Amino acid sequence: MDGNGRWATGRFLPRVAGHGKGVEAVREIVEACAVRGVEYLTLFAFSSENWRRPAEEVSLLMRLFMAALEREVGKMHANGIRLKVVGDLGRFDDKLQQMIDNAERKTAGNTAMTVTICANYGGRWDVMQAVQKMVAARAASNPQQAGAGQDVTAFTEEELAQHLAMAYAPEPDLFIRTGGEQRISNFLLWQLAYSELYFTDTYWPDFGAAELDKAIASYQQRERRFGRTSEQLVEQKKAS
Ligand code: IPE
Ligand code: MG
Repeated sequence: MDGNGRWATGRFLPRVAGHGKGVEAVREIVEACAVRGVEYLTLFAFSSENWRRPAEEVSLLMRLFMAALEREVGKMHANGIRLKVVGDLGRFDDKLQQMIDNAERKTAGNTAMTVTICANYGGRWDVMQAVQKMVAARAASNPQQAGAGQDVTAFTEEELAQHLAMAYAPEPDLFIRTGGEQRISNFLLWQLAYSELYFTDTYWPDFGAAELDKAIASYQQRERRFGRTSEQLVEQKKAS
């Protein structure tokens, strides 16, 4: 969700106004996705690198996050939405961690849509913590093979994927980046391997339902081959 700051400065407003408007865009997109039958929506709200921002901006983002949780979780729950927050949450203050925990517990049984907020998240962090958990799980189930005795060639991609922070979700079909930059910026590195990428110059606060439909329309034009040839896909379609 990029472009809040530029949206604001272009209007001679402080950056914080852009973040406030960005929260409204989140609400609109969550609703639009629910209406369109999207099952998983994942929002990159705060990266591991965003701590480098001025302290006042970081603390405002935290307050906005808390306020949004306070205001929106009840409504999300009423609409059957499951909320997940993934990332290295230990760095957030206790009150925010508690709110996240409560929100996740409250909505855990909901099945209409899963909204994931990535907070203090980084794709490399995710892969590393998954590797650590995978190795630890092996060592725990087979202590005599732990450490130097462990057969590292026996680890599989599937085993690692089970330990990623978003192991509960399928890999994304569509990745959208707003705000004109064309980079992944350490988002879901592992899971984006075959995702369709969509970049738009629209700033996040202006990214509404109409913009979402443009992104979906672009996605629908893509041919997803997963390494195969076009001809193979035609054959596959005939067979099914
Ligand atoms: C939102 O946009 C990103 C976060 C909430 C961390 P930016 O704050 O990065 O906006 P720009 O890039 O300065 O316009
Ligand atoms: Mg930015």
